[in-house]
Amino acid sequence: MASLRTLSTKLALVSSVIVSVNAVAIPEPTAVPDSVEVRAPVVTPAAIRFDGSHSYMYDRRNIISDIASGADNFLHSLGSVIGQDLPSYVISGVPNFFQNFPTGDQVKSSLGIKDEDLDAAPTEVLNIPPYANWTGDAWNVRFHGNVYKTPNISQEKVDDLANVFLIDTDIKDLPPNEQAQARNLTKSIFIVQQGDQNVSFHLEPAPSQGSSGEPGGGGAITPPGGSQNITFPYETTDLGDFDAFVKIQNVSGGGLLSPDQTDSVQRLNVYTNGTLTGNATAFLVPPEGITFISDIDDILRVTKIYQPKEGLLNSFARPFTQWMNMPDIYANWSKTLPNSTHFHYLTTTPEQATRLYMDFIYKTYPGGSFDTRPLNFSDVSATLSIRQYLLTKIFETFPKRKFVLIADTSNSDIMKDYPTLAHDFPEQVQCIFLRNTSATDEEDKFPYDTSKFEGLNNKSYMFFKVPDDLSGLDIANGQCLNESIPQNVTFGIQDEVLGIHGAGGKLEGSATVSFVVALAVAVFFTL
Ligand SMILES: *[C@@H]1O[C@H](CO)[C@@H](O)[C@H](O)[C@H]1NC(C)=O
Ligand SMILES: *[C@@H]1O[C@H](CO)[C@@H](O)[C@H](O)[C@H]1NC(C)=O
Ligand SMILES: *[C@@H]1O[C@H](CO)[C@@H](O)[C@H](O)[C@H]1NC(C)=O
Ligand SMILES: *[C@@H]1O[C@H](CO)[C@@H](O)[C@H](O)[C@H]1NC(C)=O
Ligand SMILES: *[C@@H]1O[C@H](CO)[C@@H](O)[C@H](O)[C@H]1NC(C)=O
Ligand SMILES: *[C@@H]1O[C@H](CO)[C@@H](O)[C@H](O)[C@H]1NC(C)=O
Ligand SMILES: *[C@@H]1O[C@H](CO)[C@@H](O)[C@H](O)[C@H]1NC(C)=O
Ligand SMILES: *[C@@H]1O[C@H](CO)[C@@H](O)[C@H](O)[C@H]1NC(C)=O
Ligand SMILES: *[C@@H]1O[C@H](CO)[C@@H](O)[C@H](O)[C@H]1NC(C)=O
Ligand SMILES: *[C@@H]1O[C@H](CO)[C@@H](O)[C@H](O)[C@H]1NC(C)=O
Ligand SMILES: *[C@@H]1O[C@H](CO)[C@@H](O)[C@H](O)[C@H]1NC(C)=O
Ligand SMILES: *[C@@H]1O[C@H](CO)[C@@H](O)[C@H](O)[C@H]1NC(C)=O
Repeated sequence: MASLRTLSTKLALVSSVIVSVNAVAIPEPTAVPDSVEVRAPVVTPAAIRFDGSHSYMYDRRNIISDIASGADNFLHSLGSVIGQDLPSYVISGVPNFFQNFPTGDQVKSSLGIKDEDLDAAPTEVLNIPPYANWTGDAWNVRFHGNVYKTPNISQEKVDDLANVFLIDTDIKDLPPNEQAQARNLTKSIFIVQQGDQNVSFHLEPAPSQGSSGEPGGGGAITPPGGSQNITFPYETTDLGDFDAFVKIQNVSGGGLLSPDQTDSVQRLNVYTNGTLTGNATAFLVPPEGITFISDIDDILRVTKIYQPKEGLLNSFARPFTQWMNMPDIYANWSKTLPNSTHFHYLTTTPEQATRLYMDFIYKTYPGGSFDTRPLNFSDVSATLSIRQYLLTKIFETFPKRKFVLIADTSNSDIMKDYPTLAHDFPEQVQCIFLRNTSATDEEDKFPYDTSKFEGLNNKSYMFFKVPDDLSGLDIANGQCLNESIPQNVTFGIQDEVLGIHGAGGKLEGSATVSFVVALAVAVFFTL
């Protein structure tokens, strides 16, 4: 279809930039799954790979000359590489695969779908597991999610679209289960959001975590009652989003417990009226206690976001896999910390792609509420601000709770936002734990920036390598640092693999040392 071709040609695939001290070598992305191979210098290479079906729209001259200026000028080069020629989310090292997903109108026009074609499709609702705070007289639940329809796209088209996300891999070459997952995920991206819709929910006590009955539950309890119907007070936005706090009732005859009656988090199942796709579990969180705010990619599951091809396969096709024994660490926290402890999973993956995340978390980690990137935060500048926005919202919602912030070093927004919260809300940030992917995973060539940690109590955060580094900490009493783990924090740009220790630092090693700035694979739609 002509429209499909238009779609693909407008997809820009920004791949790896290979930077070497004396040479600039551009391997095919396929060549980089697990070892970095430095090839002979290329005379006038494009720093970014071109591909017949992908186009690249940035001026590449300065990239090459700046890179060629060598290691002494590393930081300057990186700034220039990044500053002028690449999108800002790449500059800040956000290796984000998912940018600018198409809006419903774009999906319709690019795939030639008519309104009538959608009439028959059922309305579906993505209901993100919410948290609630106590307002003194009622629980106040932040319902948020999206209303949409899934167009009937032929499998052939779905496969074409899926292939756009997979570098040098054809979906037809994947095992059947991976094909099914990649097709499902692709379909969940090519949806048509439904604006101006009323949404209503049925709530009832949740006997287990997860709306589909997964065991566990992050220490939360089932309230004695609380069944009720709620109509969300606003219609959905043009992008099909709904997001607002709604006070829920204490149904007569006793139902929900107030914080005077229990220290525990209470769980309610939320069913969306009119669809079986809008189930979620709501967590009523007491005013005081500890909330873990955890990123998911490369900390709870193996994503390898810094290795574009692997990252895409791990996100699209392969079953989600836990990172080492991290579930044991979380399970222990869930069992041993006070009952008021709450888990909140915050990922900036666009919400359309997050059903798999929720499914994985509920099967593997303590139950808890979620934040994902809402559809209206789809452009590049919003991508960089979304985490800050969501974090600030939860801090303001629970002004008396303490937060433990967990992620890995490959997200530049986290490297900025987590310590900034500790500066801005010193009473609320209990601990920051960052997995140093640069120290453990040779493939992570992303430098990370520790400058924002300057001035924080150096016992309030820890860079760690394996989950066991986190065991035995007395988090409730503010012990965040396992003294046996060397920290190496220089308050500058660092990268263990590259031997960069601190701002202005030089590359160590011989002149043949080469390094890769795996800038990003950004699949972004400019329909
Ligand atoms: C989707 O379209 C195909 C081909 O047009 C048709 O056979 C199939 O029944 C449709 N499926 C649904 C759920 O409408
Ligand atoms: C794909 O989606 C279908 C229908 O929603 C579901 O039954 C199936 O389990 C999903 N498969 C995978 C691998 O996610
Ligand atoms: C949504 O509900 C409001 C209030 O009940 C009503 O005025 C409005 O017409 C409804 N919108 C739609 C699209 O049904
Ligand atoms: C909620 O609405 C459903 C129909 O959507 C109805 O069957 C049920 O009785 C209502 N429950 C309450 C508690 O009002
Ligand atoms: C709900 O009502 C019961 C019985 O009156 C009361 O014990 C309980 O504290 C109330 N819960 C809330 C959340 O107000
Ligand atoms: C549920 O939706 C149906 C239409 O799909 C509507 O008739 C009914 O009133 C709704 N129930 C509630 C509790 O909003
Ligand atoms: C949502 O909950 C309903 C009622 O328990 C159930 O029938 C349905 O299968 C659930 N949907 C999903 C996607 O799990
Ligand atoms: C925590 O909850 C469990 C199970 O509900 C209960 O047995 C235990 O006593 C509670 N602990 C505290 C300190 O309240
Ligand atoms: C997205 O929508 C929410 C409310 O639904 C609003 O608070 C927020 O400012 C919007 N963000 C952007 C970037 O428009
Ligand atoms: C509950 O959350 C809302 C929304 O963030 C906030 O405005 C309000 O102050 C919070 N209430 C309390 C008592 O903290
Ligand atoms: C600290 O530096 C040492 C020596 O370079 C390295 O082996 C170790 O992995 C680093 N640790 C962390 C947590 O970055
Ligand atoms: C489990 O948590 C408790 C309390 O924080 C701690 O004392 C213990 O060492 C932890 N065990 C592991 C294996 O993390």
